[in-house]
Amino acid sequence: MFDFRPAPDCPKPEAYRQLVDAADALTSGEPDPVANMANVAALLWDFLPDLNWAGFYRMVEGELVLGPFMGRPACIRIPLGKGVCGVAASDATTQLVEDVHAFPGHIACDSETNSELVVPVIRGGDVVAVIDLDSPLKARFDEEDREGIEALAALIAERI
Ligand code: SME
Repeated sequence: MFDFRPAPDCPKPEAYRQLVDAADALTSGEPDPVANMANVAALLWDFLPDLNWAGFYRMVEGELVLGPFMGRPACIRIPLGKGVCGVAASDATTQLVEDVHAFPGHIACDSETNSELVVPVIRGGDVVAVIDLDSPLKARFDEEDREGIEALAALIAERI
């Protein structure tokens, strides 16, 4: 049994350190990318409050294709440059969006989503996936979330 959840009063940077350590423990030495993405999606869901979606889109033949996630069923294919995920992938930059309704071309997979954080996973200079977090709260994500998820993306880049 695994129980990696942080204490409820844990400060956010410390919770992210614990999340990255848990992801390291779960994916270290495991070569299967689907298993590793599935466990990381589950960790994100357990560690981070106020999410309605957490998971991966993978770069497959020049477009993003849905990967392991927690939450409701989602759009399967996202062209590069489209929506928050497609921009994060095409620009290889994190997208921290306080209000998705103000983001040109946002793809509404779930009408409950109000804010979103998308971090590219970069291996050998190429974007191989994005980590996508959605929240029903406006402005749910901040710089601490960005730093934490970017650290997670760097850790798992060679493992997915
Ligand atoms: N809203 C995203 C699409 C993916 S879902 O949120 C799971 C976007 O605009 O890229």
